[in-house]
Amino acid sequence: MSTTQAAKSAKKAAEPTSGTLDIKDSRTGKNYSVPILEPGTEGDTTVRAMDLRQVKVESGEFGIMTYDPAFMNTASCKSAITFIDGDKGILRYRGYPIEQLAEDATFLEVAWLLRHGELPNQKEYDGWVRDITFHTYVHENIKSFLGGFRYNAHPMSMLCSSVAALSSFYPEAKNIQDPAEREISIVRLLAKLPTLAAFCFRHAKGLPFIYPDNDLGYVENFLSMVARMSEHKYEANPTFVKALEVLFILHADHEQNCSTSAVRAVGSSHVDPFSAIAAGIAALYGPLHGGANEAVLRMIQEIGDPKNVNSFIDDVKGGKGSRLMGFGHRVYKSYDPRAKIVKKLAYEIFEQVGMDKDLEIALKLEEAALSDEYFVSRKLYPNVDFYTGLIYRSMAFPTDYFTVLFAVARTAGWLAQWEEMLLDNEQKIARPRQIYIGPGERGYKSTVSNKFPRTRK
Ligand code: CMC
Repeated sequence: MSTTQAAKSAKKAAEPTSGTLDIKDSRTGKNYSVPILEPGTEGDTTVRAMDLRQVKVESGEFGIMTYDPAFMNTASCKSAITFIDGDKGILRYRGYPIEQLAEDATFLEVAWLLRHGELPNQKEYDGWVRDITFHTYVHENIKSFLGGFRYNAHPMSMLCSSVAALSSFYPEAKNIQDPAEREISIVRLLAKLPTLAAFCFRHAKGLPFIYPDNDLGYVENFLSMVARMSEHKYEANPTFVKALEVLFILHADHEQNCSTSAVRAVGSSHVDPFSAIAAGIAALYGPLHGGANEAVLRMIQEIGDPKNVNSFIDDVKGGKGSRLMGFGHRVYKSYDPRAKIVKKLAYEIFEQVGMDKDLEIALKLEEAALSDEYFVSRKLYPNVDFYTGLIYRSMAFPTDYFTVLFAVARTAGWLAQWEEMLLDNEQKIARPRQIYIGPGERGYKSTVSNKFPRTRK
C-alpha cells in the first residue's frame, strides 16, 4: 500500500460515524455493515457509496454501485458555503440568512464572505474592492473578438465564449495550486465579468464599448458601461443600483445546482478557472436553469392577457404547452425565499418607474397556480426567476440579456465553490460511473460501400 493510500485509509478509519446500516444481500445471504456518517451541521445523513462496493457475489466482481440519474439523492461534496432547507424555504450563505444579507450587505462583501467564510474587516473589504476595481479593464483584443459575433448573437453565447477566451490571455492561471495565482484569477474574473457583460450588451445595440469608470462602485460601474452615452460621468438611478445589488446578492450562490456542479466537474480536471467558469455559464444558459428568467418573460408575453391565464394553466397541466416557467425547484418544496424578496423588490421598482404592463398576468398566474391541485400536490411554487424578468425589463434590459445578469452574480459563488473543491483533499477528477445497456461484443462488418474519399482510392 502506498503512503498516500495508507494515509487515506487511516483518515477513513478515523471518520466519525453515528451508527451503521445493516444490509443483507439476498443473492448470497451475506450481511454487511455500512457506517452511517456523522450528520452535517444541519443533519444531512449519508453513507459512502464506495462502502457498497464490498457487496458482491464473487470476489473478483466490481461490487454494487448506486444508480442516481440527475443526482437526486447523491451528495457530490462536503461544502461549508451555502445551506438550503428546501422544505422550510431557508437559504443561508456561510450561516447568514439571505434576507439579512439582501437587506444590508453589498455584493462584493457577499463575494468575499462566500470565498473566505467570514465577513471582511474594513481593511480586507477596502483591499478587495480596490483590487477588483483595478482589474475591470479587459485586453483590447477582446473588443475585436466580440466584434466578430453577429449583431443578433445571444449575449449568453458571447459571454460564455469571451470568458473562455480570457483563459488564453492569462496562461499563468493554469497554476491552480499556487494560492497567489488563484487569488489574481478570482479577482480578475469578478472584475471583468461586468465589463464583458456590458460589452455584450453594447454589441447587440451597435453601440461603442464604454470603458470601466474606476471611480464608481461595482454595480454603478456596470450600469455606466451598459447605458452611458455622451455624458462625461454616468449617474445611475439609485433605485436601480440598489435593486441590482440585491439581485446580485440573491443570485450569488445556490450550492450544488447544475452550473455549480458543471464548474466543479470541469474544474476537477485542473483546468484554469476561466475555462471552468465558462462551463458554468454554458450550464446556466439553459431554460431549466438560469435561462428560466428569459423564458418566464417570453411565456408571459405569449399569454398576452390576464384572461388567457386559465387556459394557459390548463395547457401546462395537460402537457400541451411548456412548463410553467419560473415555477418549481429541485430543492425548494415551499416558497423560494429569494422569490419573496424579488416580489417585494419588484413593487419598489414599479413605484418608481410605473407598473409593468404584464404584472397583472404574472400575479394571476401565480394565484391560479398556487390554488391549483396540480401545482400544490407537486409542491411547485414560484422560484427566483418568476419576477426577476419583470424587474429587469423595467430597467430596460432586453429579454435575452436577463441570464447574463444572473451569470455576473453567480460568478462569485462559482469561484468560491471551485476553490473549495480544489482545496478538498477528498476530491479527484469527477468521473461518474454508468450502467452499460448497449449491445454485447459483436464482429465488425461494414454495411456501406464507397465510404472513403476519392483521393484515398
Ligand atoms: N410546470 C409544470 N409542471 C412542472 C413544473 C413546472 N414548472 N416543474 C415541475 N413540474 C412537474 C413535472 O412535470 C413533474 O410532474 P409528474 O410528477 O406528473 O411527472 C413534477 O412536477 C416533478 O418535476 P421534475 O421535473 O421531476 O422536477 P425537477 O426537480 O427535476 O425539476 C425544475 C426542477 C426547476 C427543472 C422544474 O421545476 C422546472 O422545469 N421548472 C421550470 C423552469 C424553471 O423555472 N427553472 C428555474 C429554476 S430556479 C433558478 C435556477 O435554478 O436557475
